[in-house]
Amino acid sequence: MKKFVVLASGRGSNFKAILNEIKNGGINGGIVAVISDHFDAKALEIARGADIEAIYGNPQSGEYNEWLLNLVRSYAPDYVLLAGYMRIVPKEFVAAFPQRIINIHPSLLPSFKGLHAQRQALAYGVKITGCTVHYVDEEMDTGEIIAQAAVAVKDGDTEETLSQRILEQEHRLYPAVVRMLSEK
Ligand code: GAR
Repeated sequence: MKKFVVLASGRGSNFKAILNEIKNGGINGGIVAVISDHFDAKALEIARGADIEAIYGNPQSGEYNEWLLNLVRSYAPDYVLLAGYMRIVPKEFVAAFPQRIINIHPSLLPSFKGLHAQRQALAYGVKITGCTVHYVDEEMDTGEIIAQAAVAVKDGDTEETLSQRILEQEHRLYPAVVRMLSEK
């Protein structure tokens, strides 16, 4: 049984997709805590509804990074899953969990790193984009790629319509990767 800690900043739909896969018996493990840098993150609400520890940390506190590292360490997780966690993970955190922090990003990396990846893809005019699940290293969105899914850009796509089709793939890809990691 693998132990996972989830870090999420907002809506939490990827967290929910992983949770559903756990409920369906597809993952050999469980989520022991969801931690957010936003007190009103939907992800925290979903966690509470599922009887999973839901913890808010104030990133303006000045001690956020140390607090987060100690807190996550206290769970001794096998993997830390970033699910819409919109902060850079500090070097010390990466060093504490080498090849054990996983992220999902809404583009085919190494294209369109950083914020608004779907908007960047539309602005560039690519015809295929998608999503990537990867290990987190010290740089942003550069860690070793674990899996990707491609999504065609359609004529007339807006940021919303494209994001929605990518999200559907995210909800398939991330649980599949967590399932694979749980069997390692
Ligand atoms: C997802 O599209 C995820 O790929 C993206 O934020 C969204 C979170 O949605 N992550 C990044 O852009 C990370 N750089 P969710 O909260 O509903 O899972």
